Amino acid sequence: MAAGKGTRLQSKHPKVLNEVGGKSLLAHVIAAAQQVVAPQDIFAIIGYQAERVRSAVKDTGVQFVVQEPQRGTGHAIMCARGALAGYDHVIVLSGDAPLITPATIAKLRDFHLQHKPAMTILSTELQDPSGYGRLIRKGKGGEVQAVVEEKSCTPAQRKLREINSGFYAFAVQPLFAHIENLETDNPHAEYYLTDMAEVLRKAKQKVLAVSTESPAEILGSNTREELVGLDRKMRRDKCTQLMASGVTIFFPDTCVIDADVEVGADTIVEPFVQLLGRTRIGSDCRIRSYSVIQNSEIGDGVLVRPGCVLDEAHVANRASLGPYSHLRPGSEIGEDAHVGNFVETKKTRLGRGSKANHLTYLGDAQIGEGVNIGAGTITCNYDGVNKHKTIIEDQVFVGSDATLVAPVKLGKGSYVGAASCITEDVPADSLALARSKQIVKEGWAKQKRAAKNNR
Ligand code: UD1
Ligand code: CA
Repeated sequence: MAAGKGTRLQSKHPKVLNEVGGKSLLAHVIAAAQQVVAPQDIFAIIGYQAERVRSAVKDTGVQFVVQEPQRGTGHAIMCARGALAGYDHVIVLSGDAPLITPATIAKLRDFHLQHKPAMTILSTELQDPSGYGRLIRKGKGGEVQAVVEEKSCTPAQRKLREINSGFYAFAVQPLFAHIENLETDNPHAEYYLTDMAEVLRKAKQKVLAVSTESPAEILGSNTREELVGLDRKMRRDKCTQLMASGVTIFFPDTCVIDADVEVGADTIVEPFVQLLGRTRIGSDCRIRSYSVIQNSEIGDGVLVRPGCVLDEAHVANRASLGPYSHLRPGSEIGEDAHVGNFVETKKTRLGRGSKANHLTYLGDAQIGEGVNIGAGTITCNYDGVNKHKTIIEDQVFVGSDATLVAPVKLGKGSYVGAASCITEDVPADSLALARSKQIVKEGWAKQKRAAKNNR
């Protein structure tokens, strides 16, 4: 169920597209479901901003059911009637509870198939049950008689700590034989799926509950505070898992590491680092503070000094970056290469052992091995309409403050004098100078001072 608006988040965006642990709530739930059920047997019920939600998760291969308008969780399942026609049983998951695990979904399924009730509710006991629907059982551990939403609880019911997780299994036949008996006589005037417990019991059908011992798994995210709490828990779990596999993470509470990130053993992650998306980092690296690395691949033994920003970059073994390097998409930094302070690269390959240490922009450049790029060098890759390439062959030495106007090629082993504006290709092994000649006026300063003193 992923059709709700998420009123309590005070947001214009659909609730289930909010992210925790770097992934949308719905993507987490689908990922868990896919470990238990094949994608073509998973239906996402969408409604509020349905097309946005659909396109956000369509790559998973799940099917969709549209609920329009959204008249409650019971109504959501009514809308799935056609989609479920060929099935005997259905597991219902809440799209806003991202911590659910495949093991718990499987436990719910197995219990349901073993005991064969019309409805099985996944329940748990919470220290603070407020906000959740309460289970009313016939005696302790007995059949479920009803689920009462918090707003409709009597004071005695409010004290019950066994709550409805929002995950269920149903036998499809009795579900749809009786779902029309749901009513909207509640504070929200909605069809509550939870009311199926009472509807089915009145129809002499069996309603059971199976509880999970890990209540954290069922936590929903109805408010921003809950969302951030879930995010924090996932990040913490991710750090714990990486540490168990040999990664040192100092002050892990300050680090933001997405679920799919991989980091090799003996790598050290300093405080306030973000590792995002599909980032992969090798072993024996050191990622220093305030670096944000997204969808990038980093080899072994790489040093990332403080404040680097990487996006879709590749960095080979033993290279070093920063402080304050910006590697934009298509940056490929070779083995043992150095990229230093305030250097920006984009669609650029920097060969093995080459260095660009200070204040430089390298865009659309192919740079060979053993090249030195002097401080302040700029590739002028853009003429206002098109982007052009700069080719710098092996062992080239580019002096400081060079301006390389692309398209241009510096041949192997050539030198470019400092402050040159290079507009034509430079042949191999030659020196190119493209700057005005120095003029020296001897005694000029002394005369100027003397003139000032005589005034
Ligand atoms: C629901 C349960 C409550 C349970 C809690 C657990 C009901 C009436 N109450 O409350 O007993 O303790 O989950 O987290 O079900 N949705 C739709 N269509 C709609 C309305 C909602 O698809 O018309 C989806 C939402 O997008 C969401 C899920 O159903 O993913 C649950 O809806 P939500 O409004 O969050 O229910 P709760 O108030 O949390
Ligand atoms: Ca909820």
